[in-house]
Amino acid sequence: MLETEVDRANIEKMVRSFYQMLIKDDIVGPFFIQALGDDLKNDKWQEHYKLLDDFWLMLMTGEKGYKRDPFLPHVSIGKLYEETFERWLTLFDTHVHQHYIPKIAKKFNKKAEILAKKFMQGLEIGVNPDDKNWASYKL
Ligand code: HEM
Repeated sequence: MLETEVDRANIEKMVRSFYQMLIKDDIVGPFFIQALGDDLKNDKWQEHYKLLDDFWLMLMTGEKGYKRDPFLPHVSIGKLYEETFERWLTLFDTHVHQHYIPKIAKKFNKKAEILAKKFMQGLEIGVNPDDKNWASYKL
């Protein structure tokens, strides 16, 4: 059954199964294994899950809790390319549609796309400085 609303319990479920799938991916997986290890039960992963729960809850419901800069870790995890972000976004798109009704899944994806573009902009990946839309990307 697809979720018809967003709450902490279903975000926790979605986040954990997303990363279970993500670490098996040959493009994106190695970044996570290098940063957090391959044992999803370890402390680093538990901390990562908690951050991501709070992060998505804030983006999707406005609930305060996540107070960090999500961009920062992405500066030091290795060389990321446009293709790395594209793969992450494709996997996320598929995944949220398996958990939520299309209207909510699309909202998740829109937020993820905006963030990915901001991250790429920050990392100077595949950004066309003439693209006037950059200025209008807002969460
Ligand atoms: C190229 C695709 C991506 C890769 C390979 C990637 C990889 C990672 C890794 C390895 C970490 C953990 C770093 C650490 O704790 O040492 C992390 C943290 C995080 N990522 Fe990503 N990421 C990607 C895209 C995204 C996107 C598109 C979003 C948002 C929609 C996102 C949101 C986050 C957040 C919120 C954290 C936790 C930040 C914190 O420490 O507060 N990531 N990412």
